[in-house]
Amino acid sequence: MSDDFNQLRILVVDDERDIRDASERILTRMGFHVRKAKRGDEAIDLLPDDNISIMLLDLKMPGMDGMEVLKHVREQDPKILIIIITGYATVDTAIEAMKRGAYDFIPKPFEPDHLRAVVNRARERLTLTREAKRLEEQRKRTLADLDTEKSRIRTIIESLPDGVVVTNAEGQVVLMNPAFQWHLGLETDIGLGRPIEAYVPDESLCRLVREISSGKHVDYDDLCSIEFSPFSDRYLLAKGQPIIGEKMECLGAVVNIVDITALKTLDRLKSEFVAKVSHELRSPLSTIHEQLAFVLNEMVEEGPKQDLHMLSRAKEKTSGLISLIGDLLDLSRIEAGAVCEEPKPTQVEKLLENIVDFLSPRAKTRSQSLTLQVPNGSLPAVTADPLALESIFGNLITNAINYTQEGGEIKVVVDHTGINLRIRVEDNGFGINEKYQEKIFERFFRVKDEQTRYITGTGLGLPIVKGLVDSLNGLISVESTSGKGSVFTVLLPTAGAADG
Ligand SMILES: Nc1ncnc2c1ncn2[C@@H]1O[C@H](COP(=O)(O)OP(=O)(O)OP(=O)(O)O)[C@@H](O)[C@H]1O
Ligand SMILES: [Mg+2]
Repeated sequence: MSDDFNQLRILVVDDERDIRDASERILTRMGFHVRKAKRGDEAIDLLPDDNISIMLLDLKMPGMDGMEVLKHVREQDPKILIIIITGYATVDTAIEAMKRGAYDFIPKPFEPDHLRAVVNRARERLTLTREAKRLEEQRKRTLADLDTEKSRIRTIIESLPDGVVVTNAEGQVVLMNPAFQWHLGLETDIGLGRPIEAYVPDESLCRLVREISSGKHVDYDDLCSIEFSPFSDRYLLAKGQPIIGEKMECLGAVVNIVDITALKTLDRLKSEFVAKVSHELRSPLSTIHEQLAFVLNEMVEEGPKQDLHMLSRAKEKTSGLISLIGDLLDLSRIEAGAVCEEPKPTQVEKLLENIVDFLSPRAKTRSQSLTLQVPNGSLPAVTADPLALESIFGNLITNAINYTQEGGEIKVVVDHTGINLRIRVEDNGFGINEKYQEKIFERFFRVKDEQTRYITGTGLGLPIVKGLVDSLNGLISVESTSGKGSVFTVLLPTAGAADG
């Protein structure tokens, strides 16, 4: 029995002393705290301070009778369970009393067992009522907590400076914050529930959101991101991620949107600055280079050896700077979208033949074999500016020569896959550690290790190659193993595919 019930108070109201005392004995042994009253009014006086839970109430009493006490108690404290004590003759009245709210009745005279059974039932009822009340209170508390938690999360999401939009598995918007609406210039009353296309004007972002929502990106570790521009002067970066449920099913997508207009402007200003400076430096540097060449020519016969050496070094350096400036200008042009202005159908295998012929002497000085493999029969043409193609494959083959040991093997393999022409530049040279394989397409990135330390270069070749391949709607990828070699694969859409 719990402490609570040891403290349960029971009031016995009966004008017969024997009944009062007998009940007291039995109930005390059952663990109740027992109070007694011999009259109705006495019982009512006790109620307010005595915290009574159960009342045993005789119906027939002098003065205020049981019915009246019952009415009073029901009004004053309806939680008290009232058990009517009544003689056989008044069973009808007992039933009437039950109708008026008494909990149970016990006929007089009663056996102790009978009293125990009836009172135990009342006690159980009290336990259940209390438990139900406790659960109800707990439920209310949990609901209140949840409500506060929900509104707290909502407030946080609404105050985020970044846009947030959440879609369900069907790609319909189920949540968005004011920053999202603001970034996309949406009406404040646009409402939820419509497909993502109703909110976002960018086709590729909508496609990405739909793909993520339907679970296509569940196995990807990286966040998918897309840059887009909803208005002419605003650039946004969207990053999306699937929402995974408990059973690892995809419930939808959450997309975060950041304004990168300032970064873009800075990037453009930087590019313009680099382009301008490169342009301004190129003419004077070329003049210095030519003058050095001229002076060196004059000095070859009679000039002091030391001066000759110094001037040759200066000439080499100026030639390195001129090539760097050339690369920077190429990159600026690619960024400005000013390459391939006059594309024409080009037979890539012919062009590769020329490049391989041109670079063969360089490979020979390093005792490397440089071969070109072209399938039998004619290949479809690629619509492109031949200068862009020369730059792409010139860079890739030069890299293969530079980053392969003496005596190595370099192969250029062309084939035709579906709508693309595939060109692979393979070497069995130094290879590239996996962690650098994405980085080599970034500007100025060069792998610096024992083997590459003394090879000169600026790290602009591959960014130029990538920029050009992108502008031709092609793809470039690299597979490489440190110490074994590398394969750079370029896919270029053929003229027929481009027309289609
Ligand atoms: N075939 C290759 N094998 C091994 N490493 C390579 C190969 N191609 C490129 N790399 C690595 O990638 C880096 C970047 O190449 P990238 O062509 O961009 O610059 P670079 O050759 O260093 O300079 P340049 O601007 O003169 O071409 C190189 O420094 C080299 O470390
Ligand atoms: Mg290079």
